[in-house]
Amino acid sequence: MDNVMVFDHPLIQHKISILRNKATGTNEFRALIEEIAMLMGYEALRDLPLEDVEVETPIETCMTPMIAGRKLAVVPILRAGLGMVNGILALVPSAKVGHIGLYRDEVTHEPHEYYCKLPNPIEERTIIVTDPMLATGGSGVSAVDFIKEHGGKKIKFMAIIAAPEGLKRLHEAHPDVQIYVGHLDRCLNENAYICPGLGDAGDRIFGTK
Ligand code: PRP
Ligand code: URA
Repeated sequence: MDNVMVFDHPLIQHKISILRNKATGTNEFRALIEEIAMLMGYEALRDLPLEDVEVETPIETCMTPMIAGRKLAVVPILRAGLGMVNGILALVPSAKVGHIGLYRDEVTHEPHEYYCKLPNPIEERTIIVTDPMLATGGSGVSAVDFIKEHGGKKIKFMAIIAAPEGLKRLHEAHPDVQIYVGHLDRCLNENAYICPGLGDAGDRIFGTK
């Protein structure tokens, strides 16, 4: 699939395996989500715009490229996407951060929006949407819909684990969006949870339930 990258890096695979373990506690889970986001971000930000700035080295003055950090926005899907934000900010501390609040209805599994605040203006920025889980794809598609309605154009979507169903749905709804996935899992179960997955990402990051 064009615009879809599934990571095969051993560090990412190793850390995802620890996430999956139900014995992994909140502290470690949170730290791993952040680390994986940083490792994935390293690749996803490969085309970040650079601008030449003047720097005085001990030898001479030169023009040298630096990241135009104001050009990046990270937009987590609340709640679980929040866990990935610091991993990206560790790479680009000057990025702006927007938020989209969505929760899945437990019966229909359809997403409901309860919050949306994006950096303004958004048109010129590269936008990285973060959510550890891409299950049915409903939340991901809605989040990208909102961002596009607000004028967002260059959008990337980062999920740590995806189900084939969700990846297909997001890619078909938004083929222009570059999707980065840490691991592609087998399927969804009858409750639309990813198998084998890692359970409820929001609950495991925030220690709820
Ligand atoms: C989870 C997850 C995604 C969504 C994925 O959030 O973080 O946002 O489900 O499922 P989908 O692809 O089928 O839409 P949830 O709705 O449980 O909210 P939370 O992050 O607040 O726990
Ligand atoms: N949301 C989660 O947190 N986990 C899943 O497996 C599916 C949706």
